[in-house]
Amino acid sequence: MFARAVGVIGTGYVGLTTGACLASLGHRVVCADIDENKINRLRQGDPVIREDGLAELVTEGIASGRLSFAVGAAAALAELAAEGTPAEVVFLCVPTPMGVGGVADLSAVEAVIEETRATLPTGCVVVNKSTVPVGTSVRTAELLDRADVGVVSNPEFLREGSAVHDFLHPDRIVVGSEQQDAAERVAALYARLGAPTVLTDAASAEMIKYAANCFLAMKLSYVNAIAELCERLDADVTDVTEGIGYDRRIGQSFLSPGPGWGGSCLPKDTHALLQVSDSVDFEFRLLRATIDTNIRQYQRMVDKIRLAVTGRRTGSLSRRRIALLGLTFKAGTDDLRNSPALDVAALLRQAGAELVAYDPAVDASDPRIDQNLVLVSDDPYVAAKNAEAVVVLTEWPEFRTLDWSRMAEQMDTPRVIDTRNLLDRDVLRRSAVEWVGLGRRAA
Ligand code: UGA
Repeated sequence: MFARAVGVIGTGYVGLTTGACLASLGHRVVCADIDENKINRLRQGDPVIREDGLAELVTEGIASGRLSFAVGAAAALAELAAEGTPAEVVFLCVPTPMGVGGVADLSAVEAVIEETRATLPTGCVVVNKSTVPVGTSVRTAELLDRADVGVVSNPEFLREGSAVHDFLHPDRIVVGSEQQDAAERVAALYARLGAPTVLTDAASAEMIKYAANCFLAMKLSYVNAIAELCERLDADVTDVTEGIGYDRRIGQSFLSPGPGWGGSCLPKDTHALLQVSDSVDFEFRLLRATIDTNIRQYQRMVDKIRLAVTGRRTGSLSRRRIALLGLTFKAGTDDLRNSPALDVAALLRQAGAELVAYDPAVDASDPRIDQNLVLVSDDPYVAAKNAEAVVVLTEWPEFRTLDWSRMAEQMDTPRVIDTRNLLDRDVLRRSAVEWVGLGRRAA
């Protein structure tokens, strides 16, 4: 395999993971970001974001000379050119947030194209790695207006929290372009990974990303609905998902019910695909129901908590003290964007509850948290003090091994509503803590 000169624009979890992993595969990579402070920290080997294995790869990359950092896309291209190895591939990994009406906001992508348009070396390939609407490759080619530069869509399927692992052990690589040779050159970057590769046109590659994330969201809304039905019919969702998951057409993964799905990807991408569907007069009812089911799930969690705390479906949560375990949108990340835990917290607060939370990835003084919504404690036992219920909202494994007898001593009423079915209910029973799960039969 030949090492390639690669520019990566944007050092979020996708860009930085891509850059650090490509360097570990032997390529020469310059990662760029407009945030100078972030670049300075990266140059010191501080990855800024919490991602397993990333710090090691960044440090190794810097030490080997294969990975470096530049402020701004133009500077990254200039650095490679100055080494006599002009960029052969430039990845765009900038944010594409949800804009007005759920449409993806492409202004960051457009700004990078504008900045680099004139200096991209002849024969290089620009790769869209950000999740972008179907048709963006065509738009990118128009904006670039450079017949000598290829445009490729190469969506990423990394999960936050396991991004490095997912990059190095992909289920598949998807590369789409109108220019076959450009697509093949991008696919070759990953050759060492030995993953199945889908070579297709640009629109199909872009569609694959949305279709995958929307399918995952649908799977989760489905399993949350099944969990609710299990509660009403006295079935146990853990056994039900195990039973359906052995069917290889369904699979065991992504079948855990929870307080709703969130994060920076699934909510954004489901809304974007719905918006695109509307724009071509396609009424995507299944996707609409997937989103609606999820929004309803937050309220359903509050209803469960209300029933557990007050003993009544219509009981008041006003001034009831509730401790929350977990604020991030899932375990293994410090990301709070679109966290279902915060959505549930907001509804509880609206209902008048007083909230104290503990999360291993969120400090008591974290500026991202609105103190009027929830007070954060650095200690789970302090968070539980005088609470009438503890609500598990994120599946951090360490919650399982808390000293539950000690938690019970702190609480006003030793009761747990476990929206992730995380805890061992036998351990809780032995600690005299009442446990309420999601879709579980009473033991
Ligand atoms: C998601 C996709 O899984 C990745 O493949 C994709 O690359 C990424 O979006 C992206 O588009 O960049 P991520 O946002 O990191 O990854 O989060 P997931 O692990 O998919 O979790 C999403 C939400 O579903 C979380 O709130 C999580 O707690 C919830 N979830 C997940 C469940 O409630 N149950 C499960 O069984 C799995």
